[in-house]
Amino acid sequence: MHLLQHWAVTALVAASCSLSSRDTWDYIVVGSGPGGLAMADRLSEAGHKVLLLEKGPPSSGRWGGTMKPQWLQNTNLTRFDVPGLCNQIWADRNGIACTDYDQLAGCILGGGVAINSALYWKPHPDDWNLSFPAGWKDADMKAAVDKVFTRLPGTTTPSQDGKIYLPQGFNTIGGGLKAAGWAEIDANKENGLRNRTYAKTAYYYIGGERGGPMATYLVTANARKNFAFWTNAGVKRVVRTGGKVTGVEVECGGSSGVVSLTGTGRVILSAGTFGSAKILWRSGIGTKDMLDVVKSSGDGSSMISSDQWINLPVGHNLYDHVGTDLEIAHPNVVGYDFYAAYNRPNQGDMNSYLNGRSGILAQSAPNFGPMFWEIIKGSDGINRHLHWQARVEGSRATSMTVTQYLGTGSVSRGRLTINNQLRTIVSQSPYLNNAQDKAAVVAGVQSLRDALGKVSGITWVRPTSSQTSEAFVNSIPANAGSRNSNHWIGTVKMGADDGRSGGTSVVDLNTKVYGTDNLFVVDASIFPGHVTSNPTAAILSVAEHAAVKILALPAAGAA
Ligand SMILES: Cc1cc2nc3c(=O)[nH]c(=O)nc-3n(C[C@H](O)[C@H](O)[C@H](O)COP(=O)(O)OP(=O)(O)OC[C@H]3O[C@@H](n4cnc5c(N)ncnc54)[C@H](O)[C@@H]3O)c2cc1C
Ligand SMILES: *[C@@H]1O[C@H](CO)[C@@H](O)[C@H](O)[C@H]1NC(C)=O
Ligand SMILES: *[C@@H]1O[C@H](CO)[C@@H](O)[C@H](O)[C@H]1NC(C)=O
Ligand SMILES: *[C@@H]1O[C@H](CO)[C@@H](O)[C@H](O)[C@H]1NC(C)=O
Repeated sequence: MHLLQHWAVTALVAASCSLSSRDTWDYIVVGSGPGGLAMADRLSEAGHKVLLLEKGPPSSGRWGGTMKPQWLQNTNLTRFDVPGLCNQIWADRNGIACTDYDQLAGCILGGGVAINSALYWKPHPDDWNLSFPAGWKDADMKAAVDKVFTRLPGTTTPSQDGKIYLPQGFNTIGGGLKAAGWAEIDANKENGLRNRTYAKTAYYYIGGERGGPMATYLVTANARKNFAFWTNAGVKRVVRTGGKVTGVEVECGGSSGVVSLTGTGRVILSAGTFGSAKILWRSGIGTKDMLDVVKSSGDGSSMISSDQWINLPVGHNLYDHVGTDLEIAHPNVVGYDFYAAYNRPNQGDMNSYLNGRSGILAQSAPNFGPMFWEIIKGSDGINRHLHWQARVEGSRATSMTVTQYLGTGSVSRGRLTINNQLRTIVSQSPYLNNAQDKAAVVAGVQSLRDALGKVSGITWVRPTSSQTSEAFVNSIPANAGSRNSNHWIGTVKMGADDGRSGGTSVVDLNTKVYGTDNLFVVDASIFPGHVTSNPTAAILSVAEHAAVKILALPAAGAA
């Protein structure tokens, strides 16, 4: 009990929101996912007065989080800090997951980087070159990517004793790929080599804990006097007159009020693919059909009048990696019950973790690889990138589930909408509604079956050996329930073609919302197309690059 109180006193807790404050801000950043955390750090580093607003509660113990099993009491750790407990999100997500979306997302300090599996590797040049606009190509992004990987290099050996625990699954699949001619690479060094290559799984963990953006960007931002952040502070909408934003309307502690910008201030929305779209709609920015829905909701009477609406295709261009799960079993594979570790950890494993941040609980449950890649050229000439992740989990004790993700080069898109309960809905599925996208997925499945075909002792659980790859892919519904990867992007597309005049883009090449003077969006929602890496590294890189562009813009309203 004494220790508990001790931690409560020494943790760097976020300030609670203070709606009566008359402070004004150069920058208000909305949302503390990877996009928002990197922005908050870079903008405060440049000397600006920055307020970061996060809708959810603290997550990591470093920031005053409290959600934890009994065995972590008397430590500075919560469930979010221990890599081996990351799977708990599938068992219990009350008070953690957003309740106003029809898909999973973290509504907690850190957003997705508080709850995800922390897989983290360097983007391939095609990630930028194939779908990002001018000024955001591989050559333009290099400095930003390097900055991210200097700050947060990532690791392939999360356990602090330097060992990899339960490597049998990695060895089985990696060994099979190697025998079939695939090459082992270092994912964060040889990022240009993504065709029939495999690697040890890389994570953004630090010191055997989740680490990541919350333990780097937020730590340096928080050390500055010109920075503040409030948790449990949800933004309802931006306050604007025409294109000029003057502040945000914040809901906290049961009341709401306006937090204002300085005369030359700016708002950065980093509320994620669902959250940033939702704030735009509630601020009168979107297509008329969606704004009419918001008008008919509880927001209606206080919504900005329709003569001020800005017509932009918010919610279009929705995408997510298409997930296709295969399952194999092999007698060598050894799994681990990470769910049991939450309440009843093995005592030896618990002690190794608590005393030295070592052992199986320092590894991402149950994602210890390998990860691997292949590039499939479509008959339409587009190179489509597939990445695969293997986890030691499945229907049998010796199973591994191997998930294929279709990212870079994919052309399928869906649509996000909002209903009059102000809930965001994936109303048009973004998966495989293009024949060449599907052909790439089928070819990738076949390629893996061929590659692992010579591994002795392997059993194919799905697809079964009698099923064709095409029949297998067709048997899985192309909807979010069966295919989602929780890697959503695209609803606030960045591009040079202004959506107000028939274009497809919502933000310009400086990430500024078309038709506004000082409203920006920096998170996964602005991605025009997907990347081959897991999203975190790419989002941090986009934020680093956006910060340079935004800081260089002359202030609107300045003399
Ligand atoms: C279960 C799961 C596993 C994943 N695994 C991986 C992985 O291993 N590796 C990887 O790289 N990626 C992974 N991802 C994806 C990755 O986490 C996301 O792509 C990434 O977090 C998106 O970053 P973002 O900054 O766009 O938004 P988010 O991380 O979604 O952050 C948005 C933040 O804004 C806040 N917010 C929303 N609305 C408001 C509002 N109105 N006012 C104030 N704050 C608001 C939210 O609470 C949240 O904190 C996973 C995601 C999930 C859900
Ligand atoms: C917990 O404390 C250890 C030792 O001081 C420190 O290295 C680590 O970063 C802390 N972790 C969190 C989540 O606060
Ligand atoms: C990326 O595209 C540019 C042209 O836009 C090209 O010059 C460059 O070689 C490409 N880079 C890679 C690594 O493919
Ligand atoms: C990927 O590798 C395969 C097999 O070696 C090869 O046929 C194909 O051309 C390569 N694709 C690209 C885009 O390099």
